[in-house]
Amino acid sequence: MIIAIDGPAASGKGTLSRRLADHFGLRHLDTGLTYRAVAAALLANGLPLGDEGVAIEIAHNLDLAQMDKSVLSAHEIGEAASRIAVLGGLRDELVKLQRRFAQTPPGAVLDGRDIGTVVCPDATVKLFVTASPEARAKRRTDEMVSKGQDAQYAAVLEDLKRRDERDSKRTVAPMRQADDAVLLDTTEMDIETAFQAAVDIISRARGA
Ligand code: CDP
Repeated sequence: MIIAIDGPAASGKGTLSRRLADHFGLRHLDTGLTYRAVAAALLANGLPLGDEGVAIEIAHNLDLAQMDKSVLSAHEIGEAASRIAVLGGLRDELVKLQRRFAQTPPGAVLDGRDIGTVVCPDATVKLFVTASPEARAKRRTDEMVSKGQDAQYAAVLEDLKRRDERDSKRTVAPMRQADDAVLLDTTEMDIETAFQAAVDIISRARGA
């Protein structure tokens, strides 16, 4: 069983994916971390973000088990990840890795921007998780403040909108809802409500 979860930043797809993987006894991959890991390696070595050859080599040698979410969640790494995510050759390399993960038994939950459209077009169930930019900016600001980081709602909102624009307008694998994905708008939902709604959608799809 493969569950594909796509959606914009701070839509709640990460938390939801982890909980769904636990619930259904599946493995979980946050594919955003793979883009972040490559971006972090380029930044750490002072290499230009446009050097696709080096980026592909880093991706080729990437060890998913070594990706540290707490380190990779830094804001500047997310920004750099979204910049290198436009490189088609790099995406092909990361997609190979992500597909291998998805196809390993007993199956997996993958979350990202192009899981239902590119990485796992034959997934058992596809969800597109979204929320209004304002709700997402509030969540992201609260999350940053709770970690003791300095975050301004207005700046976070601008940043999210810029990233949405870059992710959905790029020519290679833009973020979009797959034709057969179910839309889950979490604007008015807390995480528990969103989780229950997702479990219902998945259970129905499995039964069908
Ligand atoms: O945590 P947040 O939602 O802000 O970002 P992320 O999921 O960690 O992804 C960081 C960046 O990687 C995104 O802005 C996308 O540009 C890119 N990405 C992608 O292109 N395709 C994916 N499947 C996952 C992430």
